Amino acid sequence: MKAGLALLSAFCLTACGDVVADTKSPPAQPQPLQSGYEFLQPQTQALQDDDFANPGFLWIDRGEALFSTATASGSACSECHTDASLPLAGAAAHYPKIDAESGDLINLEGRINLCRTRHQNEAAFEYESDELLSLTAYVAYLSRGTPISVDIEGAAADWYARGRDYFETRRGQFNLSCTQCHDDNWGKKLRGDTISQGHGTGFPAYRLEWQSLGSLHRRLRDCDAGVRAEPRPYGSDDYLAVELYLAKRAEGLEIETPGVRR
Ligand code: HEC
Ligand code: HEC
Repeated sequence: MKAGLALLSAFCLTACGDVVADTKSPPAQPQPLQSGYEFLQPQTQALQDDDFANPGFLWIDRGEALFSTATASGSACSECHTDASLPLAGAAAHYPKIDAESGDLINLEGRINLCRTRHQNEAAFEYESDELLSLTAYVAYLSRGTPISVDIEGAAADWYARGRDYFETRRGQFNLSCTQCHDDNWGKKLRGDTISQGHGTGFPAYRLEWQSLGSLHRRLRDCDAGVRAEPRPYGSDDYLAVELYLAKRAEGLEIETPGVRR
């Protein structure tokens, strides 16, 4: 941890100084848009590219099995979601979105849990549980290759603004905002990583550091912890809002779940 701190402060001495003087101008969003995949070492990219070697497929397979299994009090997901009725291919590319019934912003995890409670008469899965990760990864994988496009109008507008605000606000002991790393310093090295543009396109993703698949919110918690800020809870409104902001910011990039990351 000590070495990490030293590196982070060294990074800030060289990189964060210029940003301080320049707080009023809107952040220059990264161009051209590039997935986090582009910033990985070739051997990590190779792991993602090979569906047989990519460890994320352990969760996809598990998700597929859960998807087609009836629950104690409800029918299987696959009974309602077929190619002919309520197909899910491409659906994940439009999340987060407003749930018409409740008016709340929901991400894919939230949407799946609504089907658990509304359509299967089951309790919601816990965030970051193996079941929810597996189903989310499977449903996202059905959209692999679909360009992201989300609605930020109407009821979503306030969420988008809140997400953008979170992204641009400095926080933590290091007093750094997301934008300072992912808009202003992408392509630079930090603690053995190359800072990417901060898109969520590979999530849920397998991180070698986690030795597991994890949600986008788990990644966001790590980024908040990295600047010594208090990570927000899984599924919190702050992270849902950031997730919407990130999706809009990544619009046009394709879903690549299951991503593999360092
Ligand atoms: C001190 C710099 C720093 C800050 C501040 C920071 N991050 Fe990160 N972030 C990283 C690094 C390093 C990684 C891992 C390498 C990379 O960028 O993919 C990362 C990864 C990510 C990823 C995953 C990208 C991928 O393809 O796997 C996302 C999404 C992300 N950050 C979003 C955020 C958000 C949102 C915030 C603010 C809450 C934030 N980051 C704050 C440095 C930072
Ligand atoms: C009894 C039928 C039924 C079952 C079982 C069911 N769903 Fe659904 N699902 C629906 C309906 C209907 C919708 C449309 C939204 C609504 O009315 O709630 C939907 C919507 C969705 C969506 C959003 C699709 C979109 O285009 O935005 C996803 C993702 C989803 N379901 C996943 C699942 C998963 C995963 C399971 C199993 C855990 C499941 N569903 C079980 C009926 C069902």
